[in-house]
Order: sequence, then C-alpha cells, then structure tokens
Amino acid sequence: MHILITGGAGFVGSNLALYVKQNYNNYEITVLDNLKRRGSELNIPRLKAAGINFIHGDIRNSEDFEQINNDVDYLIEASAEPSVMAGVGSSPKYLINTNLNGTIKCLYFAKERKAKVIFLSTSRVYPVEPLNNCSYNETETRFTFTNHQSFPGISADGVSEQFPLDGYRTLYGTTKLASELMLPEFLQTYSVPYIINRCGVLTGPWQMGKVDQGVAVLWMAAHFWKKQLSYIGFEGSGKQVRDILHIHDLCLLLDEQIHHFDEFSGSIFNVGGGFQNAISLKELTSVCSDITGNNIEIKEDKKQREGDIRIYVTDNSKIYKNTSWRPVRSVRETMQEIYEWIQQNEAQLKNIL
Ligand SMILES: NC(=O)c1ccc[n+]([C@@H]2O[C@H](COP(=O)([O-])OP(=O)(O)OC[C@H]3O[C@@H](n4cnc5c(N)ncnc54)[C@H](O)[C@@H]3O)[C@@H](O)[C@H]2O)c1
Repeated sequence: MHILITGGAGFVGSNLALYVKQNYNNYEITVLDNLKRRGSELNIPRLKAAGINFIHGDIRNSEDFEQINNDVDYLIEASAEPSVMAGVGSSPKYLINTNLNGTIKCLYFAKERKAKVIFLSTSRVYPVEPLNNCSYNETETRFTFTNHQSFPGISADGVSEQFPLDGYRTLYGTTKLASELMLPEFLQTYSVPYIINRCGVLTGPWQMGKVDQGVAVLWMAAHFWKKQLSYIGFEGSGKQVRDILHIHDLCLLLDEQIHHFDEFSGSIFNVGGGFQNAISLKELTSVCSDITGNNIEIKEDKKQREGDIRIYVTDNSKIYKNTSWRPVRSVRETMQEIYEWIQQNEAQLKNIL
C-alpha cells in the first residue's frame, strides 16, 4: 500500500501521515508539500523520523509529481491555501492556481497512477448569504439555529449536504467547490474514483493557527502568551458559533474510508464535530481562560468581515448513517491537548503562532 498525501506537511496532512504510519507500519507514505504555510517546515523532521517520504514539491507543477516513483494506491488531497480571506484585498492567483488548477494536476496524477482520491473539501462550499439568512436564536453566549427554517438542508442540528449551493461563498469556498465538480468528471471520463469530505472547523496539535485560519489554536495561543484578541463582526458579541472536530477524530474516519473505499466511493459527506462540539468564541474564551488560568483583553470589533458566517454547525447525519464513526473528543479535551502541545513546544512555536 502506497499513500500519497499532497499538502502532507500541513496540519491535516502531517497528522494523517503520522497516524497512518503509526497504525500501519508496513504502508509506504509519501507527502508532497511546497512548505508555503508557515510552520509546516516543523513537521518535516517528525515525518522523516517516522519513516515517511517527504518531497518538496508544488502541486501546481506536474513535473514535481515525477519524483514519485512507485505506484500510488490512494491520493489524499490535503494541500491548499486554506484561508477564507485569501484574495480579499490581494491577488487570488495563488489561491486559484493551487486550490483549483493544482487539484486538477493531482487528479491527472491519480489518473496516470490509477490512484483512488480522497478530497478534503470544506463547509465553505455553502454560500454565505443563505447561511446568514437562516432563522436563529440568541442566548447569553451564542447564536443557535432554530428548527423552523425556510431552506432545505438546515435544522437545529446544523447544515446537511442538501443545503442550497447558489450564492457567493468566498473565493476559497469557490475554488474548493470548483475542484469538487471536477471529481465526478474524472470518474466518468478517466475512471478515477473519489470521496469528498466537506469538513467544518478542524483543529488539534500542530495546527499553525492564525487570524484567518485555525481559530481554536489562535485563541489558545493568545491566552497562553497573554496576547490580545478581538471578537470581529456580529456586533463584537463573540457569539458566532462553529463546531470543532479534533484532527485525530478525522484520521479515524479517513482510516475507515481508505480501508472500505468502495462503500463510500462517489459520495460527498459533511464531516464535523457536530452539534455536541459546537461552541461560540465567547464560550471558547471561557474554556481557554479556565485551562490557562489567564484572562486576556478581547476587543469588540463591530466591523463585519467579508464572507463571515454567524453560525456553522455540521449535520453529520449522512456520514453517521454510512459509518460507525463518531467524533469522540470533546471541545474541552481538544483545547486541553492544544494547550499541552503549545506548552511542550513553546520555544519552537513562539515565533509562529
Ligand atoms: N483546517 C481546517 O479547519 C479545514 C477545514 C475544512 C477543510 N480543510 C481542508 O483541509 C486541507 C488541509 O488543510 P490544513 O488545515 O491542513 O491546512 P494547512 O495550511 O495546514 O496545510 C496545507 C498544506 O498545503 C501546502 N501547500 C499549499 N500550497 C501548496 C502547493 N501549491 N503545492 C504543494 N503544497 C502546498 C502548505 O504548505 C501546507 O503545508 C485543505 O484542503 C483545506 O482546504 C481544512
């Protein structure tokens, strides 16, 4: 078994590579990454120490794939410019060339080597305005979806795969959706089988959290080093909500998908922490203060950020129906693990987080 993970030095890719190697020592794992994300370089010694092949390559260049000699059974596409702010006030070229054109190069490579593809897509394929127009309640600490909605695919449990796709969704979300659309075409025309996972917020150790991506790590790091944060948009209330999935829980699902691929082949799944792991920023502040013992200043910045969403919670019903997989780590456990990871790697992480 040979698995290629593109973007394999990044947060998801490196955690997955190490998870698979630890559990299936005889598998060959190759990761290809151009190290665009600051902090991904910290994963290279960890990957190499585990016996994982590292290729410094770019999915935008077909020639870089030529460094991969052996047959490939699975290609897990985990490379991306993953920021929802990418292209806002800056050129979108890198975003489009990586998240769309680069993914297509991955598909050509999968075709050539007859590899099966697992594509890490995003909840950001769902459009901004319909999500923000959903009916919601406001409590002391968070916004919640109500059960009375005028759209399909939305309930108090969250957003399902039936949610309408019309409307703008950020450039990031659009590049991911455009790549999703290529997958059935590559299946039909070139027999490249695929699974699509539309992931909500993923987090855990080795996520190089920054203000536009990786909010849970950003929040914990700011508490750890007593830095300042802001509640941006939504009247500066901090009541915006996301569900959080621990990376190890995602690895358990990908393990099942790799080893029972045919059961999932050709499907799209929403994948996230789900309703029980939904939390607002305000509530996340309490968890971080509690774990670190630090209270920090959090500014209220009422200016709405382009493309921001009031509530996103994953309705996992479809993936639950198709698997025995369930997220097992609570938000509190996840945040505790992030705290311990920062504590243990403080010197390395100080200049990155
Ligand atoms: N982290 C999340 O919350 C989340 C949520 C939904 C979907 N996703 C998706 O999961 C995947 C992994 O995201 P992540 O959180 O690990 O991000 P990440 O930034 O940590 O990892 C992405 C990796 O891709 C590499 N990369 C970027 N451009 C490249 C290129 N042109 N060629 C080769 N490598 C390149 C980066 O250096 C980085 O190591 C992405 O496709 C992302 O869209 C992530």
